[in-house]
Amino acid sequence: MIRGCIFDLDGVIVDTARYHYLAWRKLANDLGFDFSEENNERLKGVSRMDSLEILLEVGGLSLPDPQKLALSAAKNSDYLTYIEKMTQADVLPGVTRFLDVLRSAGMKIALGTASKNALTILHRIGLSNAFDSIVDGNRVTKAKPNPEVFLIAADDLGLEPCNCLVFEDAVAGIEAAHRAGMKCIGIGRPEILRKADHVIPDFINANLELVNF
Ligand code: G6P
Ligand code: MG
Repeated sequence: MIRGCIFDLDGVIVDTARYHYLAWRKLANDLGFDFSEENNERLKGVSRMDSLEILLEVGGLSLPDPQKLALSAAKNSDYLTYIEKMTQADVLPGVTRFLDVLRSAGMKIALGTASKNALTILHRIGLSNAFDSIVDGNRVTKAKPNPEVFLIAADDLGLEPCNCLVFEDAVAGIEAAHRAGMKCIGIGRPEILRKADHVIPDFINANLELVNF
């Protein structure tokens, strides 16, 4: 029986996955190489510094730590220019309604994300008070696919992992949910999210039946 739902942020609640991609691609281009959307799939759900490592590997570059720090700061500042323009209208279709449906049914709701910008984003899109627990990149030490983020969220909600359901758009996030002992609904394309227990394209038709599938 599912009693709690844990939502990833980027690519699930808001389409920031697109902004992350644009900012990473700009960084790659500035460093002299291209960065495809296919390569970008590997960054979804992955922390900022781990994402940079993957990007540098794609570009065949090995850089000293201080330069890596500067590059990740530059990417984040570029990313924040997109975030600053976000409003309530940027919440992905059906999300706010689905959160209301879950809350009315007595479901506990948590956010489980690797992002350190989560509070800023929630504030901009008007969902600061929509979650019983917020576990973001400032509270976790191990990035997805490590299950830490979802286990902390379940603990916050006072629930066993088997009573929690995760919503994720990232391959690494699906693995993290499974390693936490939770079922996972993928948001996106089934051919990419093959390991999810169920995949939906978006939340437009999401209802309570989806939770206890
Ligand atoms: C999410 C996104 C990743 C991003 C990570 C860190 O998991 O899916 O693409 O790298 O958060 O985000 P941040 O906002 O802290 O750079
Ligand atoms: Mg995501």
